[in-house]
Order: sequence, then C-alpha cells, then structure tokens
Amino acid sequence: MPSHEPFLLLISNLLQRLALLLLLLPSLTLSLCRDFCGNMAVKYPFGIDDGCGAPQFNKMLNCSTDLFFQTPSGNYKVQSIDYDKHTVVIYDPAMSTCSILQPHHDFVMSEVQYAIIPPSPDTIFSLLNCSIDSPVLNHYKSLCFNFSGHTCDELYGACTSFRLFHLLSNTTPPCCFTGYNTVKYMSMNILDCSHYTSVYNTDGLKGVGPLDWLYGIKLSYSVPDSGCERCERSGGTCGFDVETQGMVCICSSTLNSTRECASGSVTATGETRTRSAVLLQTLVLLLVAVYGVILYDHDVYL
Ligand SMILES: *[C@@H]1O[C@H](CO)[C@@H](O)[C@H](O)[C@H]1NC(C)=O
Ligand SMILES: *[C@@H]1O[C@H](CO)[C@@H](O)[C@H](O)[C@H]1NC(C)=O
Ligand SMILES: *[C@@H]1O[C@H](CO)[C@@H](O)[C@H](O)[C@H]1NC(C)=O
Ligand SMILES: *[C@@H]1O[C@H](CO)[C@@H](O)[C@H](O)[C@H]1NC(C)=O
Repeated sequence: MPSHEPFLLLISNLLQRLALLLLLLPSLTLSLCRDFCGNMAVKYPFGIDDGCGAPQFNKMLNCSTDLFFQTPSGNYKVQSIDYDKHTVVIYDPAMSTCSILQPHHDFVMSEVQYAIIPPSPDTIFSLLNCSIDSPVLNHYKSLCFNFSGHTCDELYGACTSFRLFHLLSNTTPPCCFTGYNTVKYMSMNILDCSHYTSVYNTDGLKGVGPLDWLYGIKLSYSVPDSGCERCERSGGTCGFDVETQGMVCICSSTLNSTRECASGSVTATGETRTRSAVLLQTLVLLLVAVYGVILYDHDVYL
C-alpha cells in the first residue's frame, strides 16, 4: 500500500462533499416566495412570505406546520384551495360537528377579509340549542331558513353529538340555519345559542343526511386585477413592495421588475448563473474522476 493513501482518501472525501453541495446549490438559491405549504399549493393572490402574492391578502395565510387562514378570532386550518373556482375551505377546530360537541366561539373576519374573501352563499351556519329568547326565534326569525329540504331538527336526530341536547332537556331546543351575515352582525352571545356548526356545498346536499354533510366554511375570494397574469407569463412571481404596496414582478432572487420580467436581461442573468454552476459541477466531477483513476492505480478500494 502506498504511504499517501490517507491523503488521497481525505481529498476524495472532500471532493465528494463538494460535489454534493454543488448539486444542492440551485435549490439553496430558490425564489423568495414559497409556493407550497406542506402539500398545499400557494399561488396568487395568496402568499406566505412577506411581499408575495397580492397586498390585500397579506398575512392572511400562515404556514407553520400546515396552512392556516388567520382571522381576528383565530387560525383556521385550510383544507383546500380551488384556484379555478376561487374558493378556500377552512375548518374551525373548535366548532361542533355531527360527532363532537364543543362550546361555541365566534368566527370573526376583518373588514378587509369580509370584503375580498367572504363566506360563500352555499355555506350555512347552524345555530344550535338557542334559548327561547334568542333574536333568531323572535324579531329576526326571518333570518332562519331550511336548506335543500333539510330542517335543523334533523341534526338533533341524526348526530350523536347533538342528540345530547335532546336527552338533557327532553325537548328539542330551537335551532336556526342561517347565513354568515347573521353571525357577522350578532355575536353568539347576542344570538343566545350555546353551539354552532357550519356546512358548505349546501346546494349538493339534497337527500343527504347530516352524517355525510361537509362541515367547514367555504370562502369565496376575488382576484385583484393587477396585471399578475402578464408577470407570470414572463416567468415571474407576483408580489408587492411592502412599503408602497405597489405590485412587483419578482423575476429572480436578485431582480424585480414593475410589470414583467424583460426577456433580455433576466434570462441573461439566469443563464449566466446556471452555466457557471454547470461548469463548476463538471469541473468537480472531472476531478473526482481523475482522483478515482489515481486511487485505482494505487489499488486503493473505497
Ligand atoms: C401560525 O399558526 C399557528 C397555528 O395556529 C400558530 O400557532 C402560530 O402562532 C401562527 N404564526 C403566526 C406568525 O401568526
Ligand atoms: C343549552 O343551552 C342552555 C342555555 O340556553 C344551557 O344551559 C345548556 O347547558 C345547553 N346545553 C348543552 C348541552 O350545552
Ligand atoms: C322548515 O321545515 C320545517 C318542517 O318541514 C317547518 O316546520 C319549518 O316551518 C320550515 N322553516 C322555514 C323557515 O321554512
Ligand atoms: C423584490 O421584491 C420582493 C418583494 O417585495 C422583496 O422582498 C425583494 O427584496 C425584492 N428584491 C430586490 C432585488 O429588489
């Protein structure tokens, strides 16, 4: 065995590490805006990072472990986003459903949220175990409705959780199916109902029992007309200037533009970087190969 074997081993080891690092390099210089949170795609007008997406939607989403929709009343888990239909389904983990009874808390949106991403008309709120003095049983009776042939009483009959109301009082406590506006203008305390649940896609629930309803809140958002399409077509990501709130087309980690990524300059910088990375990678691989040959010559087997 040749005496310089430890030295060759060291070099080969270092080179392998260097090669690995260079292969990883492109992902380290990734764009400023994360476009996924877990397995959930985050696209315009939404953004997770500062200055990404549309300014109106700034800080609405939070990507901690999962994607959350942040409102003044709390963080709600995002279950799905439909970018074609412009809808987001969120879930209030503290809300009651057919299988679990949990004390109410209000679902409160900010004025901006209510203006640009309100609950969709096919999301209904079911107020349960209301006192006989509740406004929705008296003066505001007209705010309650039956949907797709369903009555509130069905919930008390079909759901293990809501059956409890019936068992405890031996009567059927009043309840009310209503739209978001009712809970927007009257808090649960004013409404005087001890629990609530919400159901979405109510149009499709004709003849479907409460056990199979979709529990959650569907929000319907409007996309600001800011020229994002043009930016995306040029390969950019839509964002905004955090100070001026003006639209920014993010072209690369070092270049922004106001409207779109100019084909000339941007591709040039992009290409230069890619080319030099490829050159470096080739060089290192070549070196590794050369050292491999040397090691082979010296009968060193790794
Ligand atoms: C994001 O949401 C999680 C889960 O609700 C919460 O614990 C965390 O504090 C939020 N982060 C921010 C920055 O608001
Ligand atoms: C139903 O509402 C009444 C007040 O109207 C309350 O005392 C009772 O505890 C509620 N039932 C349940 C099961 O929470
Ligand atoms: C809902 O249906 C029930 C049973 O059919 C009926 O008694 C009730 O008046 C209806 N409520 C409304 C608001 O239409
Ligand atoms: C590009 O815009 C984003 C979002 O406003 C910002 O975070 C970033 O610093 C800008 N980059 C440059 C090079 O101006």
